[in-house]
Amino acid sequence: MGKDYEREDILRNMRISVIGSGYVGLVTGTGLASKGHDVICVDKDKTKVDKINEGEPPIYEEGLKDMLQEVTTEGYLRATDDIFEAVKNSDLTFLCVGTPSLPDGSIDTTYIEEASKDIAAGLKEKLGYHVVCVKSTVLPGTTDHVVMPIIEEGGKEIGPEVGLGMNPEFLREGVALKDFMEPDRIVIGGSDEKSIAVINEAYEEFDAPVIKTDLRTAECIKYASNALLATKISFANEFALLCEEVGVDVYDVMDAVGKDHRICRQFLNAGCGFGGSCFPKDLKALVDFSKAISLKPRILEAVLKVNEEQPIHAIDMLTEEIGRLSGKKIAVLGLTFKPDTDDVRETRALPMVRSLLQRGAHVFAYDPMGMENFSELVDGIEYVDTAIDALKNSDGCVIQTAWDEFKTLKADDFHRMKSPVIIDCRRVLNPEIEKEDVVYRSIGLG
Ligand code: UDX
Repeated sequence: MGKDYEREDILRNMRISVIGSGYVGLVTGTGLASKGHDVICVDKDKTKVDKINEGEPPIYEEGLKDMLQEVTTEGYLRATDDIFEAVKNSDLTFLCVGTPSLPDGSIDTTYIEEASKDIAAGLKEKLGYHVVCVKSTVLPGTTDHVVMPIIEEGGKEIGPEVGLGMNPEFLREGVALKDFMEPDRIVIGGSDEKSIAVINEAYEEFDAPVIKTDLRTAECIKYASNALLATKISFANEFALLCEEVGVDVYDVMDAVGKDHRICRQFLNAGCGFGGSCFPKDLKALVDFSKAISLKPRILEAVLKVNEEQPIHAIDMLTEEIGRLSGKKIAVLGLTFKPDTDDVRETRALPMVRSLLQRGAHVFAYDPMGMENFSELVDGIEYVDTAIDALKNSDGCVIQTAWDEFKTLKADDFHRMKSPVIIDCRRVLNPEIEKEDVVYRSIGLG
């Protein structure tokens, strides 16, 4: 591609608007502001906007509060609920709104469409070149088939007046700011070279390889990353079942397998499966999309199936140890989809608890942060204040989330149970604990 823009067109300290102030938008806005850009964060929720302007992040992310306070105090970041004003006063807009799943698993782009309409309206009064960059996870083709026509309808010409970009995020909840500031790579898709150059400028101060590509490739990279990570987890989970049968420990196996740099050890921890706001949603969307274009997503469907069955396998293990669950008191330790969050979206605790209830068990649950959110998902269980309270007089326990505080539980704590049977779904405890008069079973431990 020939150079069709002047380097001077692009300002070093850019004026950036970020639409949607959830964990992706706020982390993106704060991180870019910390590099000296003028950032305006936009959200419909006025309470969120006020909080951000006071330097108070509405969500918890490690390190975010300090950085947000710094950038708001120094005037690099402000928030507003007025999207038109934000677009008018910026040269690059990141779209960071949610793309939830519809009940059939397909992706809902309503928020993307609504925000694109507002951006198009804001651009009418905007002087000079502007780039609209999608950060939300969207299926291949969405940026040029959904966003582009809406922006064009606003009256600006794609190319000379407006550029389009697709810059996926790879942020893990809880460590999102670190992931943003120290990325493994930055993927920039663009409708032309100039749009890519503008987005690249926003990341000028970041130390990471930059992959410059087209819009669809960028959209695919995000889905391929998440699908492959989820596949690794389901692979480890399926292999775990084999290890249980042949009497070996899947963690020993994966430790060695992961030493191969072509594979790497991460995301090979067997357990009761993956949850959260991304993996299950993105896989379902990809399956639905593949079928819609007449493909057979065999691997992806298998990944989801393993993930559905894994929590039930844990409950089956418990049944093997203590017999019928009807009338038994079962302690469930950990309700969130991973530690250090109160997020229970797609948590594996839900199918587990449902299975326990179906089998007639009395469930006593404890989680350091997730009990309130979990109580909105299911009725008929009791919540207690500590792990020990859950364990007392119980017939069995299931550890579902790898919270640090569960790692400190000792054999004596389990001796308070009526029968000290532990099903450790996240390899939280040292298997050696079984030498101390408890029954210890863990997924993938033969
Ligand atoms: C994930 C991706 O990592 C991130 O790049 C993307 O942008 C959003 O989705 P997140 O959902 O925050 O991030 O959590 P992550 O730490 O990836 O864990 C996801 C789920 O997989 C959790 O339920 C976790 O317990 C499970 N998991 C993870 C395993 O079961 N085994 C593993 O080895 C790793």
